[in-house]
Amino acid sequence: MKQIRNVLVVGAGVMGHGFAQVFALNDLAVFLVDQSHELLDRGKRWIRENLEFMVKLQLLEADEIEDVLSRISFTTDFEGPAKKADYVLEAVTEDLDLKKDLFKRLGTIAGPDAILATNTSSYDINELSAVTQNPERVIGTHWFHPPPITPAVEIIPADVTSQETIDQAVAFMKRIGKFPTICKSAPGFVANRIQLAMAAEALAMVEEGLATPEEVDRVVKSSFGFRLSAFGPFEIIDQAGLDTYRAVFQYLYDKLGREQFKPPRILSELIDQGRLGLKSEKGFYDHEDGAAEALKQKRDTRLYARLNIFRDENQEENHP
Ligand SMILES: NC(=O)c1ccc[n+]([C@@H]2O[C@H](COP(=O)([O-])OP(=O)(O)OC[C@H]3O[C@@H](n4cnc5c(N)ncnc54)[C@H](O)[C@@H]3O)[C@@H](O)[C@H]2O)c1
Repeated sequence: MKQIRNVLVVGAGVMGHGFAQVFALNDLAVFLVDQSHELLDRGKRWIRENLEFMVKLQLLEADEIEDVLSRISFTTDFEGPAKKADYVLEAVTEDLDLKKDLFKRLGTIAGPDAILATNTSSYDINELSAVTQNPERVIGTHWFHPPPITPAVEIIPADVTSQETIDQAVAFMKRIGKFPTICKSAPGFVANRIQLAMAAEALAMVEEGLATPEEVDRVVKSSFGFRLSAFGPFEIIDQAGLDTYRAVFQYLYDKLGREQFKPPRILSELIDQGRLGLKSEKGFYDHEDGAAEALKQKRDTRLYARLNIFRDENQEENHP
């Protein structure tokens, strides 16, 4: 597998400066490119502030800041770095024509085995691979804000992306401490489709005057949001019971008449097979042979740890 040493990040905005920071913290040589020196200076200032705060949090030694910054070349020159880069991460404004133009140029300037990754939040990766020479090295790598901290990276191959490119992108993300998952190039990929569905309901509740933004945030953070960093939706459905979920879906559907609450067919199919979740030792996952008890213990271990953090963070709010 090819060694990745030189990384080009295109766009020094909200995401791009964070990418440069992560790569530099991982001892890589980084080129950070934007359209003007003002934007590059802003990016450099943001990275410096982030690193200074890491020192305050005792995650970095003060004398490491200059070393990390020295690994980043801040430049408006796109072509020179594009020729040298083993890995390019495009983080320009979410504008399809702009990204297509950039991939077209990268296709001819970058070395033929350089991996060309995009951080697009929404576009079909096939649109970008289609305009790029050697399109098998084009891949979506969708990070989450703030990129130095949030673990997830959705890895989204285009139809023509080679297995080698996928393997390299996954290995590279793991090497720099990220938590990659391969996803299909479908609208919203995985995370944003779910996140936006939640946001739509939160906004609707406020619009309908049923709760204030503060009330929604308070309930979400202390209820299912509290659990979500420990368990995903399917693990949570298994713990709650598929039949219980179906009953709640049915009630919401009957009362609100909205398609998104129609009880999903997949729930009924599993319920018909006796797969009710933890209580029947099988649901979306198998919990037989002691696995149900082990999962309950894992649940309690993880949630008590989070409860301590939650109480610390919310002490003042609860006892004004
Ligand atoms: N902000 C988020 O939370 C987030 C999360 C995931 C994905 N994304 C995606 O990441 C990408 C970047 O988002 P952002 O929030 O950092 O945007 P941003 O507006 O903060 O930054 C974009 C930067 O790209 C620069 N740019 C534009 N055209 C350029 C060009 N031709 N060459 C070099 N630089 C150029 C702009 O000057 C700007 O500094 C978008 O595709 C966005 O959808 C954003």
